[in-house]
Amino acid sequence: MSTQESAGRARQNTIYRDGVFGKRPSVPTDFAGLEAAARRKMSPKAWAYVHGGAGSGSTMSANRAAFDRWQIVPRVLRDVSERDLGVELFGRRLPAPVLLAPVGAAELAHPDADVAIASAAGELGVPYIFSNQGCAPMEESAAAMGDAPRWFQLYWSTDDDLVDSFLDRARRISADAIVVTLDTTMLGWRPEDLNLGSLPFAQGQGIAQYTSDPVFRRIVRERIAAVTEKPEVKVTLGAVKALLSMTSRYPGRFLDNLRSPEPRAAVETFLDIYSRPSLSWSDIESLRERTSLPVLLKGVLHPDDARRAIDAGVDGLVVSNHGGRQVDGSVAALDALTDIAPVVDGRLKLVLDSGIRSGADVFKALALGADAVTLGRPHLYGLALAGRDGVRDVTANLLAEFDLTVGLSGLTSVAEIDRDALRRV
Ligand code: GLV
Repeated sequence: MSTQESAGRARQNTIYRDGVFGKRPSVPTDFAGLEAAARRKMSPKAWAYVHGGAGSGSTMSANRAAFDRWQIVPRVLRDVSERDLGVELFGRRLPAPVLLAPVGAAELAHPDADVAIASAAGELGVPYIFSNQGCAPMEESAAAMGDAPRWFQLYWSTDDDLVDSFLDRARRISADAIVVTLDTTMLGWRPEDLNLGSLPFAQGQGIAQYTSDPVFRRIVRERIAAVTEKPEVKVTLGAVKALLSMTSRYPGRFLDNLRSPEPRAAVETFLDIYSRPSLSWSDIESLRERTSLPVLLKGVLHPDDARRAIDAGVDGLVVSNHGGRQVDGSVAALDALTDIAPVVDGRLKLVLDSGIRSGADVFKALALGADAVTLGRPHLYGLALAGRDGVRDVTANLLAEFDLTVGLSGLTSVAEIDRDALRRV
C-alpha cells in the first residue's frame, strides 16, 4: 500500500461494482449507520459496556464537538494522482497513521474477539494495540497477525512481578511499543453499566492476559492457600451463570475447573490487583529499567503532564480521555492535543485517541499535531456486525475515506497535512 493512488478509489469501486450485482457492504460505511446497526445486534450488556461513557456522556459529546469546530479548507489543481499515506513510527513503516485501540472484553461483541481483530489488523498491516483486559492471551492474538505490527497496552497492577511478566511477554511477542494507560487506575462512574449491574470482568470476561500468566496464576494459588474459611456463596441463578462463565473461560478442562476454586479466585484476584491508584511519576521513571521497548503514556491531557513525560524519558503520548469513559465533563481529547502539541514540539510521538469516527477526523487530528490516531469503538462495532471481516471493513473504509480526504484536499502525503489545511469555526 505504498502508493495510495488506488486505496480510496479502489474501495469505492469495489463497493459500487458489488452494488451492481445487488451486494451491499457488510458494514455501513458511515459511523451513524454503523453504530445503529451494531446497537441492534449487540446484547444490552455488550452495548452498555462498549457504547457507554462516564456520567452524563458529556465527554463523548465534547470529543465530537471538538472535531466539528475545525473545518478542512481543500485546495485544488495540485496533481494528487499519486498519494502515499505511509508513516514511520518506532522504526516501522506503517501503511497509514492509524492504529486499532485496545478495547477490553471484546467478546461481548463477538466470540472471536481479540483474535479476529488481530487477524483483520494483520491483513491490513494496521497495528493493533493488544488490550491488557483482552479475551485472548497476547500470544494467541500475535499468532493471528503474522509479522504485522502489534503493541501492548499495560495496566499497572499493584503487583510489580505481574507488571514485569506482562512486559516480558510483550517483548517475546515482538510488540513494537508499550502503551501504559494512566487514566483508569479506577473505573469511571459508568451509569449504562451500573444500571444493569454489569461488569464483564466480574464474569471472567476480559481477563485472559491474567489467567494465561504464570505470575498471576501463582498469586491466585497463594491467595487460595491463605484462605482459611470457605467463602459463603448464595446459590442463585445469577451466581450459577457467573460461575459457569468464569469456569468456561479459565484455561484447562472445564470439569476440572468446575471442581477448582481457581476460576472464581482468579476473578477476585483480578479485581483486587489489576490497577494501582497510587501510581506516580517515579513508577513511570522505573519503566526504563523494566523494558527496552518504546513507552507511550496513555491518558495524558494536560500540557504540564506532557512536559513531565518528556522529563521522564518516555517515547510518546496517547492524548486520550479513554473515549469519554472515565471523567464526565472532561476536556475533549482533540482540544487537549492542540494544547499539548506545541509543548511537545516533536520531542515525543503523539497519538490521538478518543472520538475518531471518519477519515476526515484522522486528517484533522494530524493537522493539529498528532503523528497517528487510534480507532476504538468503530472497530468493535464492525466486530459485532461481521466478526473479523467487519473489523477489516470498518478499518479499510476509514483508510479509504482518509485517502480520498487527503487527495481531495489537494495533498499527497501525511507530512503535508498541517494547521494551514484547517480553519477554526
Ligand atoms: C477499560 O479499559 C474500560 O474502559 O472499561
